[in-house]
Amino acid sequence: MAPCSVVFVFLLSITVAAIRPCYPSQVYVVYMGSKGSQTADDILKQNHQMLTAVHGGRLDEAKASHLYTYSNAFRGFAAKLSKEQASKMAEMPGVVSVFPNLKRNLHTTHSWDFIGLGTNEEMEIPGFSTKNQENIIIGFIDTGIWPESPSFNDVGMPPVPSKWKGQCQTGESFTVSCCNKKVIGARYYLSGYETEEESLEESMKSGKTVKYKSPRDSSGHGSHTASTAAGRYVNNMTYNGLGAGGARGGAPMSRIAVYKACWDSGCYDADLLAAFDDAIRDGVDIISVSLGPNSPQEDYFYDAISIGSFHATSHGILVVSSAGNVGTRGSATNLAPWMLTVGASSTDREFTSSIVLGNGKKFMGESLSSLKMNKASRIISASDVNGGYFTPYQSSFCLDSSLNRTKARGKILICHHSGSASESRVEKSMVVKKAGGVGMIMIDEVETDVAVPFVIPAATVGKGVGSRILSYVNHTRNPTALIFPPKAVLGSRAAPRIAAFSSKGPNSLTTEILKPDIVAPGLNILAAWSPADNNLKYNILSGTSMSCPHATGLVALIKAVYPHWTPSAIKSAIMTTASVLDKNGGGITADPKGRLANPFDYGSGFPVPSRVLDPGLIYDAQASDYKAFLCSIGYDDKSLQLITGDSSKCNGSSPSPSNLNYPSITVPNLKGNYTITRTVTNVGIPSATYQAQVSPPTGINVTVVPQILSFSSYGQKHNFTVTFTTTSPSKDYVFGSLSWKTDNIKVTSPLVVRLASSGSSFL
Ligand SMILES: *[C@@H]1O[C@H](CO)[C@@H](O)[C@H](O)[C@H]1NC(C)=O
Ligand SMILES: *[C@@H]1O[C@H](CO)[C@@H](O)[C@H](O)[C@H]1NC(C)=O
Ligand SMILES: *[C@@H]1O[C@H](CO)[C@@H](O)[C@H](O)[C@H]1NC(C)=O
Ligand SMILES: *[C@@H]1O[C@H](CO)[C@@H](O)[C@H](O)[C@H]1NC(C)=O
Ligand SMILES: *[C@@H]1O[C@H](CO)[C@@H](O)[C@H](O)[C@H]1NC(C)=O
Ligand SMILES: *[C@@H]1O[C@H](CO)[C@@H](O)[C@H](O)[C@H]1NC(C)=O
Ligand SMILES: *[C@@H]1O[C@H](CO)[C@@H](O)[C@H](O)[C@H]1NC(C)=O
Repeated sequence: MAPCSVVFVFLLSITVAAIRPCYPSQVYVVYMGSKGSQTADDILKQNHQMLTAVHGGRLDEAKASHLYTYSNAFRGFAAKLSKEQASKMAEMPGVVSVFPNLKRNLHTTHSWDFIGLGTNEEMEIPGFSTKNQENIIIGFIDTGIWPESPSFNDVGMPPVPSKWKGQCQTGESFTVSCCNKKVIGARYYLSGYETEEESLEESMKSGKTVKYKSPRDSSGHGSHTASTAAGRYVNNMTYNGLGAGGARGGAPMSRIAVYKACWDSGCYDADLLAAFDDAIRDGVDIISVSLGPNSPQEDYFYDAISIGSFHATSHGILVVSSAGNVGTRGSATNLAPWMLTVGASSTDREFTSSIVLGNGKKFMGESLSSLKMNKASRIISASDVNGGYFTPYQSSFCLDSSLNRTKARGKILICHHSGSASESRVEKSMVVKKAGGVGMIMIDEVETDVAVPFVIPAATVGKGVGSRILSYVNHTRNPTALIFPPKAVLGSRAAPRIAAFSSKGPNSLTTEILKPDIVAPGLNILAAWSPADNNLKYNILSGTSMSCPHATGLVALIKAVYPHWTPSAIKSAIMTTASVLDKNGGGITADPKGRLANPFDYGSGFPVPSRVLDPGLIYDAQASDYKAFLCSIGYDDKSLQLITGDSSKCNGSSPSPSNLNYPSITVPNLKGNYTITRTVTNVGIPSATYQAQVSPPTGINVTVVPQILSFSSYGQKHNFTVTFTTTSPSKDYVFGSLSWKTDNIKVTSPLVVRLASSGSSFL
């Protein structure tokens, strides 16, 4: 395999300054629903006409304001508009929504062994052939790819599937030879980003990092996610000697299609929609998006990811997404019911660093810094080395310039981290280093499990261990400590646990739909990286960005075995077979305090690969189900028809969104009693009888009718109802489960209920 040209290009001589418009205009996305029979040319012409109308009849201005036309899988365009022009546009016939080009953020391997799939190259779920994996194409909307990574080699892969209609777009340090039989296509989308963030050349000149104007990945995030889901087997993957061993993605024989819509500072809606529009047309089978809107999320048809994934689903493509890294209740994003939304859990591997105090006491911390301390050094609280105008309290957080060099030199500093996303953990180690410190103990009040690549010997500890170390320091004349480099330790704690940062339910947009749907490993995940960043080939990262591609890999395995399953069938199979127990058989707990986790943390639970291919029954949702759902959340006939591109009507009083045929059941507003309906489809043996088994939420009676479902053929459907009745008042959400059981199969849905009278707060 000849490497495709790897050239680091630093553009130094840029003469054209970005021209800033003197009137306030920005990029808006004009979304116009499903596309009819118009050709791309017709659509472009109509877009220009609409733009001309808001530009006072000036066609040249209209054309100049136009950024993108979306005409493959849905209709719309992106253009530079003033606020007034945007609101005029929103009134025009055919327009569903007009929204500003907002920025979305990335939700920044052993993990596959942990999930229950071996390390062998031809990974298969026992008993099922996954030979068809090579026909599965996964589209990654992310920061691009580093094609030379061993994770993306195409040795032994058959020719590109004939259904593939995508392309290998060339650009800076990216030639057609950068695509191969593994990375079968690559494109990039820059207009939305460039227009908002001045020209890329400008930021390149000022910034330190190299950004490729091509599908090449300069940040590493895109290579990490793609290799996690679909990377080839690499026998010597390691991060600075840590976690060394063979590793590969979930579906190593499936194909990768790259859609680079994310750049250093984030991903803009206009670019994301263009990526979805192309991916759907190109023929991908699955789309993986490890990024999302800030919480709280805008309405579904004012958000590029929700819109793109709605049309992807209509084309039979399941979109897998990350729930976000905010960690608080109600913070989950990517809330649309047509997506599979993934929260983050731990694996059973920790990167632990020993801390030995002068009195011989030993504590464990978490770290990725492989730097060695030669001898024990004096340890001191950062609050005691405050410098300049900083108070001891401020300095205890090791803020930039807050430390006195004279006092800090040669010492190990104890720094605090509040857990807020705006505080960088790595940066604190840089601050200590700059002040002459030789080591750092970081007391993290929220997140003790994320292993951080500190730039000096350092380790993260929780509040408990932290106060014991502080107490030693306070009560000892010459306190010292020695921090050892981390070691990968397996099975030291119960796993999986829910990562503290993993964003949680309830769903802030449609409370009746539980989010996240599942959790997957997202804590300290080793995968491919971009050498353009820190010259690293592999890196260890944490985030729901990392858990999303684990689910994507699993979806690829199912799709390979059942190519004709709908997105909702695949999603149902993963959700109804998931487990809510950890590997020790106890209930999954949530970091940092180890409380028992609930469906707002993990949705349906942690996937069990050995069960996903034989789910017995599935909760399928067709286009008509999503139409009814849109009616139930208030869409009118006009919007519905534009979105779906047909003559659908909302029929009078819509049922509650709780009635969407979803694999989990949520009733957020229970008054007295309430009944929901579900339909299950038999995808197991033709003749099977299932019995309902309910674990009712506290204070709620649950009645399932009928109690027994008998099937006699494959594909046969049965309806059932679930009636919830209040038996005693409760203040908050309560949780239970419903399982349909036959010999070896259990089809489980979480039950999530809250009484109407309870409390005033919506979340
Ligand atoms: C690791 O493997 C890659 C190819 O798989 C090879 O190019 C590289 O030299 C190996 N490195 C070591 C240290 O063995
Ligand atoms: C740092 O501490 C030393 C010793 O206590 C003191 O002399 C010096 O003024 C301090 N410097 C700053 C910038 O606070
Ligand atoms: C240690 O002393 C610091 C002040 O230097 C104080 O803020 C902290 O509460 C003390 N901690 C313990 C555990 O004694
Ligand atoms: C409205 O009713 C018609 C006929 O029963 C049905 O085909 C259609 O799917 C319904 N529309 C919605 C949005 O449920
Ligand atoms: C539900 O409530 C209605 C009236 O509010 C009552 O007639 C009905 O019997 C109740 N159903 C159940 C199953 O409790
Ligand atoms: C299930 O219910 C739907 C609507 O409530 C109905 O159209 C359908 O025929 C029912 N299916 C079965 C198998 O009874
Ligand atoms: C709840 O179920 C129990 C046991 O089936 C029954 O005795 C009780 O009356 C029910 N309560 C209500 C409020 O329906």
